[in-house]
Amino acid sequence: MSQISAFAPGRVELLGNHTDYNEGLVLSAAIQLGVTAVGRRLSSGKIGLMSRQMSASAAWHGVLDEGFNRQNQWSDYPLGVVWALQQIGCRLGGFEVHFDSTLPVGAGLSSSAALEVATAMVLSRLFHFNFELMELAKLCRKAENEFVGVQCGLLDQVSSLFGKEGHVVFLDCRSERVEQIPFPQEMALLVIHSGVSHTLSGSEYNERRTACFEAARLLGVSALRDATSQQVLQIADSTFRKRALHITDENARVVQAVAALREGDVREFGSLMTASHRSSQKNFENSAPELDILVELALEQNDVYGARLTGGGFGGAIIVLVPKQKAQHVAAQIVEAYGRRTGHIAKPIVCECGEGALF
Ligand code: GLA
Repeated sequence: MSQISAFAPGRVELLGNHTDYNEGLVLSAAIQLGVTAVGRRLSSGKIGLMSRQMSASAAWHGVLDEGFNRQNQWSDYPLGVVWALQQIGCRLGGFEVHFDSTLPVGAGLSSSAALEVATAMVLSRLFHFNFELMELAKLCRKAENEFVGVQCGLLDQVSSLFGKEGHVVFLDCRSERVEQIPFPQEMALLVIHSGVSHTLSGSEYNERRTACFEAARLLGVSALRDATSQQVLQIADSTFRKRALHITDENARVVQAVAALREGDVREFGSLMTASHRSSQKNFENSAPELDILVELALEQNDVYGARLTGGGFGGAIIVLVPKQKAQHVAAQIVEAYGRRTGHIAKPIVCECGEGALF
């Protein structure tokens, strides 16, 4: 059988930090970097997963009928998708997939979701499954939640699948409604990777999630989506109060940011991004010293409208809102000052709102 290839992009989260698993609101964009997967069927019933970035020994080989377990390596993401497909009753045969990624790992740009989405797309073509985009997103989330063991929400997979050039993705995680909203053409999304990976993100992430659920329970609501910041202020325990406040404020900021976008108010959009970072520092405590330094250095630049961490936090990258024309210059200034201050080499990537996953 002939080869099938698919590309799934990474994403930047623009506002709505950790709101997805609280049934809240998120604004994100697919970016130009991502994972390309090229697959073909194998009549032997074997599975082969190969990554150009990983050494040959990190390739995974197995036999479909013999089952498989988590390996604690990159191949868990594609294997998780195979597992999730089997769980929902899809019949697969043998296959091999070669992956090639332009996404830095550990930057918070969703390299894992891109791997999952690219796998799901290739396998659905190879074995003739007909999924709607939202079904594919949920299948990939199932792989990550139940096979890989990270209890992420829908944000990353939805952004990778629903991205649209020149648009941001507005996701309501309760209704699962997605809207693509035009983003000002003159603006770039400047990603700066701190060089510090968020290796502990799995455990910290799940811990934050549990705290949010506990705060919802204390308030007597089914999810923090149903609470207001005013109600949250009544929570006696300061940790649960702060975690919940981050979520309710972020939901409110997404609503304000959507209004700002519709009015073309980029400045307001930028201030909301910066406010979001402040809340990560103070309330959700999911920033890192290197991210805080990068945000401060970004905000010292003349042409920057706003800056914040992007994604789970605890390391990874920040996102800076800056006019396209100024992006390279601003990036160079920040990288230079960051190097002097921390000794780390930051990696800038000038992105734009890109197209979602494609065959
Ligand atoms: C990670 C998760 C997402 C989301 C963000 C934080 O990227 O995978 O589901 O929770 O963190 O907003």
